Amino acid sequence: MRRSLGFGFSWALALTLLATPLGEAAFAQQAADTQAPEAPSQVAAAQKSATGKHWMVTAANPLAAQAGAAALRAGGNAIDAMVATQLMLGLVEPQSSGLGGGAFLVFWDAQAKTLTTFDARETAPRAATPTLFQDEKGQPLAFMDAVVGGRSVGTPGTPRLLETVHRRYGKIAWAQLFRPAIRRAEGGFEVSPRLASLIAEDVGTLTRNAAARAYFLDADGAALKAGTLLKNPAYAATLRRLAQYGADAFYGGELAADIVRTVREAQNPGVLSLGDLREYRVKERAPVCSAYRRLDICGMGPPSSGALTLGQILGLVEPYDLKGLGPASPESWRLIADASRLAFADRERYMADSDYVPMPTKGLLAKDYLGQRAKLLAGDDALPGVAAGNPSWDHAMAEPRADGAALDVPSTTQITIVDGEGNVVSMTSTIEAGFGSRLMVGGFLLNNELTDFSFRSQRDGVPIANRVEPGKRPRSSMAPTIVMKDGKPVLALGSPGGSQIIGYVAKTLIAHLDWGMPLDEAIAAPNVLARFSAVEIEAGTKAEELAPGLKGLGFEVKIMPMTSGVQAVSIGPEGLTGAADPRREGVAIGE
Ligand code: GLY
Repeated sequence: MRRSLGFGFSWALALTLLATPLGEAAFAQQAADTQAPEAPSQVAAAQKSATGKHWMVTAANPLAAQAGAAALRAGGNAIDAMVATQLMLGLVEPQSSGLGGGAFLVFWDAQAKTLTTFDARETAPRAATPTLFQDEKGQPLAFMDAVVGGRSVGTPGTPRLLETVHRRYGKIAWAQLFRPAIRRAEGGFEVSPRLASLIAEDVGTLTRNAAARAYFLDADGAALKAGTLLKNPAYAATLRRLAQYGADAFYGGELAADIVRTVREAQNPGVLSLGDLREYRVKERAPVCSAYRRLDICGMGPPSSGALTLGQILGLVEPYDLKGLGPASPESWRLIADASRLAFADRERYMADSDYVPMPTKGLLAKDYLGQRAKLLAGDDALPGVAAGNPSWDHAMAEPRADGAALDVPSTTQITIVDGEGNVVSMTSTIEAGFGSRLMVGGFLLNNELTDFSFRSQRDGVPIANRVEPGKRPRSSMAPTIVMKDGKPVLALGSPGGSQIIGYVAKTLIAHLDWGMPLDEAIAAPNVLARFSAVEIEAGTKAEELAPGLKGLGFEVKIMPMTSGVQAVSIGPEGLTGAADPRREGVAIGE
């Protein structure tokens, strides 16, 4: 089933296909993959950014971007390309997203001239209670004790999302979009360096599920190496079923029964039921937009905290001259860091699934509220302490709220696509942690999204907004974003990275919009962000030089790896520019 192929040669080969125009017939043949040697460094450098007159697709893995590009070349639109890309990501980047997870999609419909969002977030099973992640004494479980096994698995949303938006907008036949991923799953793909290193880090937990162990480890229980040819016949069979019968084949029947059995019979069992799967619904929601320097930054509202927290950060720094200060000034980063700390304080207190708990959604972005909070940044030093503010509530009475504490960990993936008709997709897709719950069924991993809830449900009797409740969607940090100028999209982006996603997107926007960096440089610029008390600086970058200055201003500073995975496309009068984060394996392909 597997053979080792030496990474440099084979990984480069996968990339050579990217530049080859494909017609409709070739789209179906895509995964046959004629491979010709090419130096990996040449190809990789060429594909990190691209320009195009007609369309652009960016994704976290070359084979996935290639599947999206093939759909576009075959006459498909951005939604078709997204479906093909996501199905391939579920195979070649299985640790980050897939059928067993959820996603948020922000979509510009060029024909209707409307911006909308689709919420395919996982839901808590109806048998879940606020004590799901507490021990018998009511104390929060250790994080990994909650993650691994069935307890953390929410009802997946991605299969229904793909079908919902494809039915509404797609142009290429549903089943055809499955062919590249089916062929690749049957023919095999080469384990990428990133996947190999993540498997190596997770051998201990992957061992705990028989299917995951058999797939990601070799016969001796060792992690698969980069370059290993990996086939996934179980995923191919799942895809064939979905291609033929649609998402109902996931939410009912044999596959649904396998999912429920896997969750309930796991070592750390969960409470997911067939009814949860049957009742799952994608929700279309209005985008949340905030004004920033004559642009509208639009994205995903609750249950994501993405657009609200990003909008707050930008709103808080807007009165200050970031452009004049520039990226080398500790003062710029003081403003960004303390704006982020203020926004995260509001996030912890107020943001959750607003279908379940009332939220001051409009108040959090109100100009007078942000203006007042921005005055807190007028000093010279780091704020000594940061607390949530008092935004006005959308309904009559403010509700008492305690600060939550949810730890979303860095995994996830970003797909950004613009098609020839001007449609724009910005989609962030996830199974939460790397390898999710580590439970594998039907050739894909099940999410651990429920650990994005606060493990505590209250503090001193005051409820936490993001507590577990049956049917509720856990709060997310995912921030798929489309930037609008005069009612038209000019930029689309997003990133993986857990709660650091918000800072990655904020940095990219500020670097591009305020500091005038080209898109690829803005993405590559060192990550510096703050969530709670400390300023986090990306290790091994020039930004480490900011540390003494920031410490001098009174910040706690942490230097750490920060593996963002921003994928972005800008839309200008001259055409499209796509860029993929150099920290991961993503590429941009345009024509
Ligand atoms: N699980 C990642 C997020 O939703 O933010």
